[in-house]
Amino acid sequence: MFKKFCIKWPNDVRGNIEKIFERKRMFRSIFFIFTFIFSIIALQIKLDLKGVLKDVLNDLETQNFANYMAKWKKNYNGNETELKRRANIWKQNKADIDAENAIADGYTCGENMFTDMDKKERKNYVMDANLADQADASIKKLATRAKRGAQMTYVGETIDWRQPAYMPPVRDQGQCGSCYAFAAINAIEVQWNWLGHSLSQFSEQQIIDCSGTNNGCNGGWPEKVFNYSIYYGNAPRASYPYKGVKGTCYNTARTMTVSTWYQLTTVSQMESYNYYYGAVAFSGL
Ligand SMILES: *[C@@H]1O[C@H](CO)[C@@H](O)[C@H](O)[C@H]1NC(C)=O
Ligand SMILES: *[C@@H]1O[C@H](CO)[C@@H](O)[C@H](O)[C@H]1NC(C)=O
Repeated sequence: MFKKFCIKWPNDVRGNIEKIFERKRMFRSIFFIFTFIFSIIALQIKLDLKGVLKDVLNDLETQNFANYMAKWKKNYNGNETELKRRANIWKQNKADIDAENAIADGYTCGENMFTDMDKKERKNYVMDANLADQADASIKKLATRAKRGAQMTYVGETIDWRQPAYMPPVRDQGQCGSCYAFAAINAIEVQWNWLGHSLSQFSEQQIIDCSGTNNGCNGGWPEKVFNYSIYYGNAPRASYPYKGVKGTCYNTARTMTVSTWYQLTTVSQMESYNYYYGAVAFSGL
């Protein structure tokens, strides 16, 4: 092996280098064995998926569904009944997506973590049925303060709050019923920015963990987030990052952002407010 080198090395150096090569060969063999075993396992899983889903999906669909499962880390606990059920739902939703894209003008629909949920599941996920039925008297009382929206007249047809950049980036609430926190925090961020502060990102997780009047990952009200923020302020998103599960509330430096909030009760009030001041949080109470 060392014949090709022009320099003749002392024996101990050669010995050491031989050892290194020996070790490398050993690692390479181990690596190949592992790769081989892993490939067989991967092949086995693929074949199983094909076998289990043969009544539900064709080969290409199975391949796409396997990619879907990998991308969104779904395994359905290896339950074949559940796997078939989800594959079926996914197939229907995929057909809806393709149909929408065929006629969509200026936008494209795609898959996400909900593509294997049926309509009822998605509805339950978006809004807890019990919460939707509750009207909260104390919230209404708070909201009878000033109604700035009522004094405005809507003048414009369109407005794009991305220019100048008033909008923080699009976020993903994951598998946690925290829409109320996202809606309210986003409205606060836009208002905060609109008032001349630099574009800041505040924490939804703080709301989920700390605002006792809401229900963590099981829903809540933007109004209560505004009320909470008046008293406790908002932590920066970076120091109280999003986890998507309810955890223990902890204290970090906060900014006092909200002094008051208004309830807008008609669409034209919302339009006006949106036009003049930016984001409104909408809640379907
Ligand atoms: C498998 O999933 C089905 C629903 O698709 C469920 O009814 C059944 O209880 C599950 N089986 C196990 C062992 O979890
Ligand atoms: C507003 O927040 C304060 C402080 O946490 C609380 O005492 C009050 O009950 C809240 N009001 C509503 C309507 O949630």
